Amino acid sequence: TGLITLDPGYGNTGSCESAITFIDGEQGILRYRGIPIEQFAEQPNFVEAAWLLIFGRLPTHDEYRGFAADLTRHADLHEGMKHHFEGFPRSAPPMAILSAMINALSCFHPELFELEDPERFRMAAARLISKIRTIAAYAYRHSRGLPYIYPDPQLRYVPNLLHMMFSHPYRQWDCDEAVCEALNLVLILHADHEQNCSTSTVRMVGSSRANLFASCAAGVCALWGPLHGGANVEVMQMLEQIHTGNLTAEEYVRLAKDRDSQVRLMGFGHRVYKNFDPRAQMLGRVVEGLLTRLGREDPLLDIARRLEEIALEDPYFIDRKLYPNVDFYSGIILRAIGIPTNMFTVFFAIGRLPGWIAHWWEQNQQLDNRIARPRQVYVGEREHAYLTMGQRF
Ligand code: CMC
Repeated sequence: TGLITLDPGYGNTGSCESAITFIDGEQGILRYRGIPIEQFAEQPNFVEAAWLLIFGRLPTHDEYRGFAADLTRHADLHEGMKHHFEGFPRSAPPMAILSAMINALSCFHPELFELEDPERFRMAAARLISKIRTIAAYAYRHSRGLPYIYPDPQLRYVPNLLHMMFSHPYRQWDCDEAVCEALNLVLILHADHEQNCSTSTVRMVGSSRANLFASCAAGVCALWGPLHGGANVEVMQMLEQIHTGNLTAEEYVRLAKDRDSQVRLMGFGHRVYKNFDPRAQMLGRVVEGLLTRLGREDPLLDIARRLEEIALEDPYFIDRKLYPNVDFYSGIILRAIGIPTNMFTVFFAIGRLPGWIAHWWEQNQQLDNRIARPRQVYVGEREHAYLTMGQRF
């Protein structure tokens, strides 16, 4: 074990070479396939960004139309899959349903397991990106005891997702253009972030040559945790707690600084960004624009702004270079759209899926792809004789 270098949490371990996403944590730079993230804000189109991440360049008109048509064609779930929903209790966490159902796709599309065939990969990717929406919407409808709404082939990606969540069988949900634009941008800003916990999980599982669906199902589980994608739910609970008067913003920040409290300022801090997180800055602007456009006010936004102000002036956060991350404002946007809090991390997963797929495929194409198998430093007992039951006391 003398040769093994420990790096808990892999803070300083490069696991692969990748050409998908570039981050400069000191400068607050994030680029997808070389394109600065800010440039997606003009006419945000999540489907186009997904294609870019997966296939390495912006699609031509025909490529885009072909991909969008594939997404429309594959939006339905197999009836067998629909029956699965009935088995889940109403209170089932939607992230558990999402992971289980993505894994279940392995049962319904075994023909897509052929790892080396680019055409089959393309078909698997399109099915997954399309069906994750339907699964997410059905998980929500099931939790509310509402009838499932079929995908509408006339609708684009984002309006179709909201339609399946919110339409009534006899009344189509009207998707405001500003909502559609904001949600496209939210999904794009979540779409990839190099070797984060869930993406590394997808690569880890995929390195054993597990299929795309199984690998992405594992990614959903990793994303679920409160230090990763689950932070967007925690942020909302923190803001609600302050709003209902249990704690003031100042008291919350004080608790977050106290290491004995186990409380953290949720939506703050990042392993890579040490100056600012460009996604948080963009989302901070989106939330203002959306609320103004919808003619609404949200007291939770004022609380978030207040928390940010206090933290950014506090030596604890300054010294540790802790800034708002992607989860700090995203929840207020989702809330303005009408998405319930327990679905927030599911929306993160829908956004992150193209990144997972891109990484799974990139790794699959790399000739030096070895199974991921870290080492350890053993600290247990050297050797110990087995004792029969009667000898133990
Ligand atoms: N509130 C209070 N203290 C914090 C926070 C926070 N949010 N984040 C880090 N610290 C402190 C931590 O206690 C440690 O202090 P000390 O040096 O005195 O021991 C120091 O800052 C370094 O923290 P770390 O835990 O070693 O940093 P990390 O790189 O391992 O963790 C993080 C990064 C994002 C998990 C962490 O900052 C955190 O828990 N943030 C809150 C949860 C959150 O918002 N997660 C979303 C991350 S961004 C999107 C995503 O990945 O989903």
